[in-house]
Amino acid sequence: MNESSAKITWLEQLHQVLLRVHLPVREMVLTQGRLRIDFGFRTDRNLTVDIRPRDAASQCFSQTRRYSIGYDGQGPLDRSEQSGLERLVSVLQRIENRLPEKWQGTAGVFLPSTPRSERFLRTFPFCTVERSQVGESWLTEVLVRTTSRCNQDCLFCTAPIHETPLESDIYALLDELPEAFPHAMLSLTGGEPTLRPSFLREVVSASSREGIASVQVQTNAVLLGSKLDPQLIPVRPHLSFFVSLHDLDPERYDRCTHTRGQLAFALKGIRRLVDGGHRVTINTVVSAINVEHLVDFAKQWPRALPVSDAIDWHLSALICPSGRPEAAEVLVPYPTFVEQLQRAAAIAHQQGIVVQSVRASTHASVPACFLPPEWQEQPFHRPQVLEHETGLLDQQRAWVKAEACSQCIHNAYCLGVPRPYALRFGVRALRPLKPPAELATPTQDRE
Ligand SMILES: C[S@@+](CC[C@H](N)C(=O)[O-])C[C@H]1O[C@@H](n2cnc3c(N)ncnc32)[C@H](O)[C@@H]1O
Repeated sequence: MNESSAKITWLEQLHQVLLRVHLPVREMVLTQGRLRIDFGFRTDRNLTVDIRPRDAASQCFSQTRRYSIGYDGQGPLDRSEQSGLERLVSVLQRIENRLPEKWQGTAGVFLPSTPRSERFLRTFPFCTVERSQVGESWLTEVLVRTTSRCNQDCLFCTAPIHETPLESDIYALLDELPEAFPHAMLSLTGGEPTLRPSFLREVVSASSREGIASVQVQTNAVLLGSKLDPQLIPVRPHLSFFVSLHDLDPERYDRCTHTRGQLAFALKGIRRLVDGGHRVTINTVVSAINVEHLVDFAKQWPRALPVSDAIDWHLSALICPSGRPEAAEVLVPYPTFVEQLQRAAAIAHQQGIVVQSVRASTHASVPACFLPPEWQEQPFHRPQVLEHETGLLDQQRAWVKAEACSQCIHNAYCLGVPRPYALRFGVRALRPLKPPAELATPTQDRE
């Protein structure tokens, strides 16, 4: 019943052995030195079993001489699951001498109905996908979180914690990406991707592959201004750097990033990237700490940063990650954000600095109804809104809308406001936008 996409023979053999002892394997994924097996002991739920090299400290269901076996399940095991797991353990005890000492590589055994994109995401659990629409075209961005370690600790950080992939996992995903997500944009992010000893090799490898439309490195650039030399990264037209820089004032930069004294290194890193011929977008996440100082940012830019076609400015609204309740404390009402942004953008334009559309973010955009009319018409990235993501205020959804939003022309792709924003500032200011007057045909004209 299952189809194998594994290139690793022992995994296929193990799959056959498990089926022979009537263990209902649905899926097997080898990644990051561990084997994850989904079993369907019951029709109404999956039991995910995790097999990893034996670790005396870990709490688990059982251990063999070589392996620790644990599971993720909802609720206690029933009898069929308990006896199934015991059978699995005894099979492993019997055959473990014939399995490799160390589990390397990535591979999977999937149901034939599992699409390539799903297989990719299950094999590389540190990757996520965001789809958005720009004009008539769809953009697929594959975010590769190469590490969750960071040299900063922004109080609003959205990055999840996960296990660090091996360097070989990164190359394996680069091999598979063009087939799983043809012509995608790849973002190397984290944590801080430059912290990986293999960072330079990884970015060079990613940007020299066929079948990947563009590569972006999301970084704070601190290491690029100290230990790492961006000159070692060949310039390519489809490679760019998206650099977080939340303020040009050292004290506020430190407050945003919970660090001390890193601003000078970040600025040096940005200059070295631009001097080296790379394209850079500065990303400023707007919070209560910096919102009143965006104008100063624009004024100080020419002294602190290059002004050229190779560098532009992106301003993100604050997303509120669920694991970071502190983020909600530095939320800014959107009218304040927009007012400050208009003033800062005007000064930036006078100085020759290009400011990206405030609608160029997907999840970090401001709803169109808060924007002045001329900005509502700007080209923008419409996120593919997932059904569970947004709705009327309830405890389940990360984003919230007002009832009136159902009448808005942007309703299908507007997320509304983050739930903590709605709880703090309400949703009454959200209002439905109508089609531009010239497109709205009066009823009598049609008759
Ligand atoms: C999580 S960071 C990781 C990459 C890298 N360490 C950096 O600082 O850019 C990825 C991107 O998310 C942005 N970001 C982080 N927290 C955010 C939030 N709460 N709302 C909007 N953007 C956020 C960062 O500025 C950065 O551009």
